[in-house]
Amino acid sequence: SKLVGLVGWRGMVGSVLMDRMVEEKDFDLIEPLFFSTSNAGGAAPAMAKNETRLQDAFDLEALRRCDIIITAQGGDYTKEIFPKLRAAGWHGHWIDAASTLRMAEDAVIILDPVNRDVIDRALAAGGRNWIGGNCTVSLMLMAMGGLFKADLVEWVSAMTYQAASGAGAQNMRELLQQMGALHDAVKNELADPASAILEIDRKVAATLRSPDFPTQHFRNVPLAGSLIPWIDVPVEHGQSKEEWKGGAECNKILGKPAFRSPGSIPIDGLCVRIGAMRCHSQGLTVKLKKDVPLAEIEALLAGANDWVKMVPNEREATERALTPAAVTGTLSVPVGRLHKLAMGPEYLGAFTVGDQLLWGAAEPLRRMLRILLQ
Ligand code: HSE
Repeated sequence: SKLVGLVGWRGMVGSVLMDRMVEEKDFDLIEPLFFSTSNAGGAAPAMAKNETRLQDAFDLEALRRCDIIITAQGGDYTKEIFPKLRAAGWHGHWIDAASTLRMAEDAVIILDPVNRDVIDRALAAGGRNWIGGNCTVSLMLMAMGGLFKADLVEWVSAMTYQAASGAGAQNMRELLQQMGALHDAVKNELADPASAILEIDRKVAATLRSPDFPTQHFRNVPLAGSLIPWIDVPVEHGQSKEEWKGGAECNKILGKPAFRSPGSIPIDGLCVRIGAMRCHSQGLTVKLKKDVPLAEIEALLAGANDWVKMVPNEREATERALTPAAVTGTLSVPVGRLHKLAMGPEYLGAFTVGDQLLWGAAEPLRRMLRILLQ
């Protein structure tokens, strides 16, 4: 069986990936070779078969043995190792969660339920570089793929509500510390039903703004009890990089011309960090190419893949099913709030939620492995 190198399997995305690979029995089909950046020579995890020692993730000779390498080690690792490995004549398949190589000419952004045709064409042409998409982008396309496939989308505005996990494991911890600090500040008042709510609110506001509030991982600002309407570094046109990725990556995944060039689909909006743990949500405005009946739109969306789930545009169904609390830890990608907006019959409103670590990161990687093993 194929020798598959695994790098960055201990981190947050890597751990979710390992869990999914165990669940789906991917290890039955491969000989895994576990790499480490810090513990070479140590014991490989239980999924190891014949190769029970951790390999040095910077050892080009060890990496070159692999038919396939899957990395969730991060962008700096990719930047350092990938060019050296190719320069050393390695022709294996590189499957990567990091954004470093995404926009490279010879790389495909993998999201097979949406762009299996693009993947197959690249494979047939000798493609070797398979990169997972930005989480928000992948989740939006898992939800709305049916409309893109039917070529009904003129443009999309995506307003996002992104979870702490997208910023990293430390940020998830810090969000919870912030929640705890806020509660601690007003514990006594909360226990007393007669206490004044505005006094509670004053204490909460003072705690949020206090220099002692735990904020080091969120660039010194609170997330709990607040939000942060900027994700990643600034780029051009007043956009943040996260917002730029929406247009750039969506078009590439769909096999369209480059974003902002003729024939591409304008996709833009504002990306906002909110206090959810690991589910990204998005409020979408879709400008359709023509007035399509809502029932037809629902059928197209629902039929696009096995994971998208229509939530009726009703209060209770929405409250129950279209939230991070309902979706977290699952592969289901619900989409709801579907209705034509007041701007006209070609304007569709929608809301979608998805687990940022599953379809947003790990799942497309292990599915690409399966495609290569076919
Ligand atoms: N950039 C995303 C975020 C996560 O900050 O939420 C990774 O795609």
